[in-house]
Amino acid sequence: MIKTCMLGLGKTGRIIAEKLAAAPEFELVSVICKPGSEKSGSPLKQYLNTDSDLIIADADTIIDEYKRKRFQVAIDFSTPEATLKNAPILAEKGVHLVIGTNGFSGHQLQQLKNLVQHHRIGLVYAPNLSVGINLLLSIVKTIARLIPNYQVEIFETEPQGDTLSHSGAAVRIADDLKIIKEAAKRNRYKFGRKEDISKTVRFTSVPANDGLFHKVRFSGEAEEIEIMHRTNSGTVYAEGALKAAAFIFNLKGFYHMEDVLLLERMDRDFRLAANRLYLNFN
Ligand SMILES: NC(=O)c1ccc[n+]([C@@H]2O[C@H](COP(=O)([O-])OP(=O)(O)OC[C@H]3O[C@@H](n4cnc5c(N)ncnc54)[C@H](OP(=O)(O)O)[C@@H]3O)[C@@H](O)[C@H]2O)c1
Repeated sequence: MIKTCMLGLGKTGRIIAEKLAAAPEFELVSVICKPGSEKSGSPLKQYLNTDSDLIIADADTIIDEYKRKRFQVAIDFSTPEATLKNAPILAEKGVHLVIGTNGFSGHQLQQLKNLVQHHRIGLVYAPNLSVGINLLLSIVKTIARLIPNYQVEIFETEPQGDTLSHSGAAVRIADDLKIIKEAAKRNRYKFGRKEDISKTVRFTSVPANDGLFHKVRFSGEAEEIEIMHRTNSGTVYAEGALKAAAFIFNLKGFYHMEDVLLLERMDRDFRLAANRLYLNFN
């Protein structure tokens, strides 16, 4: 059993902790909350549907908690500030990490990568742990490489509250498409593609009445392809988090969710096949 620690017991952390406590391949030995949180010192079962007898610890006592529990992996769903404080302490002890927290700057992300090098630990950095969204990202890249001339439209759930921003997944899809379309545009004379390759990707918001939703539509002159992902449950992140933890607990290095799901390998195979055909995909 993989001795595991959950860092952060917010909306998502609670769902993951509940799954961990029930999963036969994991032993949830520690749950750590924010310093000074009212949860500190309380039984875990007060917050989750579990029969675990764990007592929630405070992040200020993280070293003592490690010495007592000797967990192998920590799954972090807290805040970037908390991660940047807790991760170096755990990395120094050789604890492998799954980081689901969002919102790191480029510089902060580099700090996490440095921890991997310095302490020779394993770390999965996964801003989106949904298995389905990661599959969608991978499939969309493959389609875009094969038909870069098709128009693309990304549909996503309307942002909640006063934010106008796109979801992390929608931004990632658009960024991947931009790179692929730029490469296709550069290479089109070399490979005899005469089509006009538009780099424009349209975004459309749909009302949030049926969970979180992403759809990518490729439109050609005479056909359309749509790839869609929908979820209405936070357990989707828990499934991804448990897969990532099982993947990383005895591996070293910095990984993404694509690695956990072997999508990176699929991508490499695709490029190798393309190279054999003297095609230069990006
Ligand atoms: N990767 C993904 O697929 C994915 C999916 C959903 C959310 N997220 C990201 O995960 C993060 C958490 O999301 P959420 O929805 O659970 O947010 P949330 O409900 O606000 O929970 C954040 C939790 O972090 C805990 N925390 C704060 N400082 C801490 C510290 N120093 N040490 C330990 N814990 C600390 C908080 O306190 P307590 O522990 O005391 O409650 C809080 O409950 C966000 O960055 C969010 O964007 C990622």
